[in-house]
Amino acid sequence: MKVESLLIHGGVDGDKSTGAVNVPIYQTSTYKQPKFGVNTGYEYSRTGNPTREALEKLISDLEGGYAGFAFGSGMAATTAVLSLFNSGDKILIPNNLYGGTFRVIDKVFKNFGISYGIVDTSKLDEVRSAVDDNVKAIFIETPTNPLMDITDIEGVAKIAKENNLYTIVDNTFMTPYLQKPISLGADIVIHSATKYLGGHSDVVSGLVVVNSEQLAERLHFIQNSTGGVLAPFDSFLLIRGIKTLAVRMDRHILNAKIVAEFLSTREEIEKIYYPGFVSHPGHGIQGTQAKGFGGMISFVLKDGYDYKKFLESLELITFGESLGGVESLVCHPASMTHAALPYELRQKVGIVDNLIRLSVGIESTDDIIEDIENALEKIKR
Ligand SMILES: Cc1ncc(COP(=O)(O)O)c(C=O)c1O
Repeated sequence: MKVESLLIHGGVDGDKSTGAVNVPIYQTSTYKQPKFGVNTGYEYSRTGNPTREALEKLISDLEGGYAGFAFGSGMAATTAVLSLFNSGDKILIPNNLYGGTFRVIDKVFKNFGISYGIVDTSKLDEVRSAVDDNVKAIFIETPTNPLMDITDIEGVAKIAKENNLYTIVDNTFMTPYLQKPISLGADIVIHSATKYLGGHSDVVSGLVVVNSEQLAERLHFIQNSTGGVLAPFDSFLLIRGIKTLAVRMDRHILNAKIVAEFLSTREEIEKIYYPGFVSHPGHGIQGTQAKGFGGMISFVLKDGYDYKKFLESLELITFGESLGGVESLVCHPASMTHAALPYELRQKVGIVDNLIRLSVGIESTDDIIEDIENALEKIKR
């Protein structure tokens, strides 16, 4: 089945017993056991719930994995994956990544004896030379949030395999519609499904897909033991959102290209981070490992242009956290999504105060551009 059809019919397609075209919301915490020592396959909804399972099967089908797991947020999903590691283990992470991922590694897992090494994962030589005896996994985001660095997934997975490490990919920006890390050699895929998969800014959720039975058993044990599961209604919302992923994503891609081209004509803008530009260093790899350049753009206003006033002057585009919704969203990484990254690291990699991150929605690009144009006019020097 082609991905556009799998988005709609993958996982558990509807309800066999009634013919309902949608999987019902099994809003239940527990299940009646027919006999002593016998159950229906479900015992308690932290351990298993049919609506959540339908979503878990769907994301596993979409990513081409062995099994999927749904959590109450992207961070709960990442936390479950990091719980696979033990004291003494080290994880390599990119030099720019979602601030919350850095925070949980730096402020929570470090306390349990799990260390990390920061590398520019877009440079395979740097990755290779950072591998030491303690390293057990390479965690990548591609494109990175917020600087849109592209990492060669297949290249990293090869280094990982040579050294017996796990490759973990946060696929939030791309979704399996555009990029399938497991087919490129990754072991574990993580999503903040709050973003493009949900697509409507109405649910906070996270998903994990693993590529083997052994990892599936361990992840299920962690999911059931730590308990950060996704609720049945939220699972339903995600299944519903995923059905339209292909059409939404196609439009996000198209709109982002038009908006990026518009931004490149403006004198107020110093730099644009957008992998769709031929001049982007990761453009070539992105073109081979993904089916499109996505809907995210980051850009830096020239010195002296008031970024706070710019953000406050936008009317159509929502100034707030998050991304990947049908509506355009803009945020200020240095003070919002990436405030947890140390100041020196932020400055070194380019998460400066003038950096703006834009999630281009699926509205008319005429309106999006007009809104940005008006806000730029207001901050003219
Ligand atoms: C790339 C990426 N990964 C993970 C997360 C965390 O997801 P959540 O906010 O659903 O916990 C985010 C949130 O912005 C993100 O952008």
